[in-house]
This record gives sequence, structure tokens and C-alpha cells, in this order.
Amino acid sequence: MDKFVIRGGKGLRGTVQISGAKNASLALMPATLLAPGSYTLQNTPQLRDIITMSRLLESMGLGFKHSDHTLSVDASHVTKFEAPYEHVKKMRASIYVLGPLVARYGHALVSLPGGCAWGPRPVNLHIEGLRKLGAEIEVEAGYIRAKASRLKGARIVFDVSSVGATGNVMMAAVLAKGTTVIDNAAMEPEITALGEFLIKMGAKIEGVGGNHLVIEGVDELHPADITTIPDRIEAATFLVAAALTGERGATVRVERCNPNHLSAVTTKLEDVGARLTYGPDFIELQPPNSIRAVNVTTSIYSGFPTDMQAQWIALMARAEGTSVVTDTIYFDRFMHVPELARLGANITIKENIATVMGVKKLTGATVMSTDLRASASLILAGLAAEGTTEVLRVYHLDRGYESIEKKLQGLGADIRRVAGEEF
Ligand code: EPZ
Repeated sequence: MDKFVIRGGKGLRGTVQISGAKNASLALMPATLLAPGSYTLQNTPQLRDIITMSRLLESMGLGFKHSDHTLSVDASHVTKFEAPYEHVKKMRASIYVLGPLVARYGHALVSLPGGCAWGPRPVNLHIEGLRKLGAEIEVEAGYIRAKASRLKGARIVFDVSSVGATGNVMMAAVLAKGTTVIDNAAMEPEITALGEFLIKMGAKIEGVGGNHLVIEGVDELHPADITTIPDRIEAATFLVAAALTGERGATVRVERCNPNHLSAVTTKLEDVGARLTYGPDFIELQPPNSIRAVNVTTSIYSGFPTDMQAQWIALMARAEGTSVVTDTIYFDRFMHVPELARLGANITIKENIATVMGVKKLTGATVMSTDLRASASLILAGLAAEGTTEVLRVYHLDRGYESIEKKLQGLGADIRRVAGEEF
């Protein structure tokens, strides 16, 4: 397993280009199960999770070709209707095949996703939503077994706003008979992108981008092409890195992003004292001379994303003063905290609240990645620490950040990947 070796203290400056959104691609790819034929998904990022999703869908008979950042999909022949544990255990988003399979083929056998590094990840909202649409679903021996002659439109109100459940139910409802109304639907840009893709495929959906969706089921859909939106979490990660370790007096320019998807994070970065300028598809950040302590509470879109909570704590670790970071989406997503403490951070956790007492300096050490965003926060802290930091098991990072070390090297960071060995 690879590790990163970082020599901290180098000021970041220059330009970085953002890749396509992982969490959009992971919804768009299974949507191709809904109609036979060829699709082109432009700006698809080159990530482990994309490979995992491709392999799962290939096991069902679809064909994929990923050249540069264009993903060509051949969905002419779907021959298998299940997602076995060997695939699902690698990536929870595999459950996105459930809705399309039941809607188009009337049956599916999908492994329950396990938990993840930071705790249980229930799928009750996915199951309840599909049951409302008329699917018969049994959960036994670690599998979800679903069948339906023809799904029927229904009124669905999600108790909790769920990205995945909204995606699954949308992909099922577009082929159901009659009208489906979804209230408390997730409004994340990745779900909006899925809605726009389904409409391009011939689906009839009103309210895309909001939390009230009205879907008129159709008898069949057709293939479509789409350009994937930029990855707002990758962009926000680089902006936080710039605020933390940007060369004072210089700027970091984050290109090929969508500033409108980032306002919760950029507003907080301005509160920290960073100076930001905005273009149609770029943001330039001038780091603050000293980092102000700024509290954050994560929430559903368009609030502060839970996927930026770990990176924010890394920034606050070097702030002047004490900040409080509360995660209202996942109550135990703090695996990065003990690792940050090894670098000298001073953080206490009580339930879903982290209190971060800023320290004057962080000192390099060896730390362990546990999950995708926790690993990102360790990289950021390593860049800010004095001396050398080794971040182990960077395969977690490779799931969601395309060539992160190359992009950071392009900004002047001293970071290198050391391949192999059992670290
Ligand atoms: C998506 O996960 C993202 N993954 C996650 O990003 C992200 O953290 C999460 O949304 C929240 O924004 C992808 O899009 C592939 P949810 P998802 O269903 O869909 C509870 C990353 O780092 N819930 O919106 O699984 C759940 O426990 C990943 O890129 C239920 O209770 O998240 C959580 O508290 C990590 N029952 C809340 O809803 C359900 O059936 C939000 O989860 C489903 C969810």
C-alpha cells in the first residue's frame, strides 16, 4: 500500500485544475442501466471509485471505455441483475444500481453495504422509498432482494434528507407508471446533475435542484451524453489547503470549479481572513496572515458539507483561538482527530462536536489514513507541519482525489508517493 511523504512548511502558490465530481459520476454511471445504447460521460474523473463502479456494471454486462476523462458506456446488453458483496463492500454507492434494476427489469439482488470507517451507514430510506413505489423487498442474509412487475408512482417524504436514497428513488420513479412526488429530496449538485441527465434521457421531472420533485413516469428512456459537473469537495479541499499553507502574499487559483456550489465554504474562508476573488469557473484565494478561529456546523446542501468537516478541522488546528466544529450529518466522523493529535493538534471530541484549540505549530509524524476525507485532512496538516509527515494507506485518497500529489506538487508542495510495501 502506498504512502505519501510530505516535507511541510512550503507555501502553496499557483494554479490547480479541478476534476469532475466523483459523487456525480457515481450516480450517472448506474443511470445508464435505465436505457439500452451508448452514452458519453465527459469530465469523468480518473479515480478508484469510478473503476469500482465500472467493474460492478461490467459484471452486469455493460461495457466501459475510459480514455482521458471521457467515459464511453455501452449499455446495450444487461445480463445480470445483482450487485454481490465483493463489489458492494468496496463502495457503498454500489447500491445505486438497485433503483434502475427494479425499474427496468423488475428484479434486483443487491448486497447490503457494510458500515464504513466511521460507523453504520443505513439504507432504510432507499428500501422504504422503493417499497412505496410498489417494489416487494426482502432483506435477508446480507442481501436486498427486490422485485416488481411495474413500479407505480407514489408520494414519498424522506424523514432525513439523503443523497443516495433520493438518487435511487428518482432513478426508479422515472419508469414507474403514474406520478411520483418526492418531498425532502436531497438538493446536492450531484443529485441535480442526475436529474438533468435523466431529463436528457427522456424522463419527465419537475423541480430538479429543489427538495420537492414531481416525476411523471414514462414507458421507456433513451441514452444521452453529459459533461460531469466539477468536484466541489476537491475544489474546497484545495481552497482550505491554500488558506492553511498558502504562501503569504501570493495566491492559489482553483480552476474548472463552480463557485456557486461552494458558497458555504468560501464564506467561512472569508471569515477566517482569506481574501477570495471569483470568476465564472475559478476562485482565487489569498491566504490570511493569521487564521481566525471560525465555528462550523455541517448540514445538507447548501450548508457546509460534511465532506469538508475533516479538512476544516485541519485548518482550525492552526487557528488563533478556539473553534467548535459540529457534524450534524454523521455523528462519529472523527477518525482523523487522533491522527491530527499525533501532529500536535489540540482537539477534544464530545459526541458529534469537536472543540479545536489552535496551536502555534504542528510537527511532522507518521499518520494513518482511515477514510477518504480524513486522509485529505492529514495531507493538509502535513503540509502545514514542520518537518516530515508520512501519511500511510493513501489508497483511501485515490478513491476520491485524482492525482492529488501531482496537483499539490504543481502548487509547490514537497510531497511524494512511495509505492508498495506493507506500511
Ligand atoms: C453521499 O453519501 C456521499 N457519497 C457522501 O460522500 C456524503 O458524505 C453524503 O452523501 C452526505 O452528503 C456519494 O454521493 C457517493 P446520505 P450517502 O444518504 O448518499 C442517513 C465522500 O466523501 N441515512 O445523504 O450515503 C445517513 O446515515 C462521501 O465522497 C439514513 O439514515 O449519504 C446520514 O446520517 C462520504 N438512511 C444521512 O442520512 C438511509 O437510508 C445522510 O446520508 C440513508 C441515509
